[in-house]
Amino acid sequence: MFRKITTLVAAAALSSLLAAGAAVASDPITIKFSHVVAENTAKGKMANKFKELVAERLAGKVEVEVFPNSQLFGDNKVLEAMLLGDVQMSAPALSKFSRYTKQLQIFDLPFLFKDMAAVEKFQSSDKGIELLTSLQKKGLVGLGYLHNGLKQLSSSTPLRVPADAKGLKFRIMSSDVLAAQFHAVKATPLKKPFSEVFTLLQTKAIDGQENTWSNIYSKKFFEVQPYITESNHGLLDYMVVTSKEFWTSVPDAEREIIKKALDEAIAFGNEVAAQKSVDDRQKIIDSKRTEIIELDDATRSQWVEAMKPVWEEFEKEIGKDMIDAAYKSNM
Ligand code: LMR
Repeated sequence: MFRKITTLVAAAALSSLLAAGAAVASDPITIKFSHVVAENTAKGKMANKFKELVAERLAGKVEVEVFPNSQLFGDNKVLEAMLLGDVQMSAPALSKFSRYTKQLQIFDLPFLFKDMAAVEKFQSSDKGIELLTSLQKKGLVGLGYLHNGLKQLSSSTPLRVPADAKGLKFRIMSSDVLAAQFHAVKATPLKKPFSEVFTLLQTKAIDGQENTWSNIYSKKFFEVQPYITESNHGLLDYMVVTSKEFWTSVPDAEREIIKKALDEAIAFGNEVAAQKSVDDRQKIIDSKRTEIIELDDATRSQWVEAMKPVWEEFEKEIGKDMIDAAYKSNM
């Protein structure tokens, strides 16, 4: 009898030791973070900061692997890959979600936000937060917005007035609003992945593109585009997303720490974005590779007038109340 009890106690002790051992030895949760831009950008730096904070706070439990420059997935594949569990986080431009939700198209409406303060105000409002949760039905969780900045037009010929864009081919992100915006000035939009833009410009397969100072600088578009019109006509911002399946599989305690690390990384990324839109613009000017065309109020109004009908075209899909709320954030 005594022997039997000892054996049972020994067996129980062994199994709890084994269980503890298994917990210690179990693999950490891996978050593959895939993005398309250079590391020296707001998004690149945000992702690296997130990795660093998670490594500090959840060593051995959660690790983040960052894949920049479309190394793992290009823009048009990453959300599909996320739903399949091949990648856990990404931060695509808001323009790249239209297959999942039409409402986010609001961020592509030309001349909607006068500056980044208005963007920030709208994104942190109730409506902005409502948009952040608009992907839930599709199995995606919006974890936060991240800024890049306002877009400029680069091209092979000078763009001063809207008529100058007529007949030119522009690369756009995969957004119908952006397509409509270029149709509005009688240009031809082509939806192409970010990774192909430099070559398309260099080989003159396209005439121009729209992007932020940071992307134009970090991907060297300014070296193959002799003109940049400082139009500030649209927004390029991101949503950091994960899949619902992955997010709910992370234990509560870890999930909370991951979310906090991400919030801090985003705040850091937003500071980088603001600084880069000043610094990278200056670096492009200093390079003397391209002429910067500034628009006076009268010529800028011509662009606004030409492109603004796009708002009405998409009003049904986006919601007039949403557009009005965003517009009010300028005040
Ligand atoms: C683009 O495709 O132009 C941008 O979305 C790239 C990026 O992620 O900033």
